[in-house]
Amino acid sequence: MALQSNHLLGLEGTPREDIQAILDSAISFKEILERPIPKVPTLRHVTVVNAFFENSTRTRISFELAQKRLSADVVNFSASTSSVSKGETLIDTIRNLEAMKIDVVVMRHPMPGAPVILTKYCSSKVINAGDGPHEHPTQALLDMMTLREAFGSFENLNVTLIGDIAHSRVALSNIYGLLTMGANVAVCGPPTLIPRNIESLGVKVYHDADEALAHSDCINVLRIQLERQKSGLFPSIREYHSFFGITRSRLLKASKDLVILHPGPMNRGVEIDSDVADGPQSVILQQVTNGVAIRMAVLFLIAGGEREDELVN
Ligand code: CP
Repeated sequence: MALQSNHLLGLEGTPREDIQAILDSAISFKEILERPIPKVPTLRHVTVVNAFFENSTRTRISFELAQKRLSADVVNFSASTSSVSKGETLIDTIRNLEAMKIDVVVMRHPMPGAPVILTKYCSSKVINAGDGPHEHPTQALLDMMTLREAFGSFENLNVTLIGDIAHSRVALSNIYGLLTMGANVAVCGPPTLIPRNIESLGVKVYHDADEALAHSDCINVLRIQLERQKSGLFPSIREYHSFFGITRSRLLKASKDLVILHPGPMNRGVEIDSDVADGPQSVILQQVTNGVAIRMAVLFLIAGGEREDELVN
């Protein structure tokens, strides 16, 4: 079993069969994570570099845990403590890492398209851990795994992404992945935070949060980047919270018990209230748990897919 691409750069154009393969493999890996000794030798022949040119908590740590659970050799690279701070380029940096014989680069970078550029200059397999506002494929895959656990299937599932859609790599990867798998996808937010012509991707647009919730089975609440208010994209945090914040009273108005996702990090009291984030409809920490299983599945299928026999040993 292997994916159709050598890399995971985004979910745009990723075939349904590949998404299905990742989600299905992640079920086996989640079971491994629940064992008393949650470790298998599957990637003991593989060396992975986690190259993070931007801050991260969840993605960096869950990739590292996934690699260690699969017995890969792991090296962590952080731009702020490397020779990047002396002016070394991205390509030179990765070429130097490759000279030390690595197999896979997991990269987060603020520039959209940076992982694609890497594939043109390096022979390692590349996994995108978030490239600027472009894509964050493993986040969308773990969101989809969590939705499949909650609902069983994506067919006719009504998913709404609410918040800063225009600057969100999580939104774009979720849109591509969910539409490929047959879900109905909507976005909701103030017009300044919704890209023009986003309907052309096949999503519905709401500017009224209560209306969006009335048509949803689940909502994925996106972080409001506080610097957006300084650049005038919405008048105040208080007004954003009043019109688009996910509060207990807003959830009570919805016709059903919505499942609530958030990719993190959260701004409590801005896009989501604490009693919702920590309440019974929230699957936010389940998303984090599933992140390790999804990243194990992606690493396995990208770097060691032919060694299927070792998956459960
Ligand atoms: N969801 C997410 O990408 O979180 P981090 O920035 O902490 O990795």
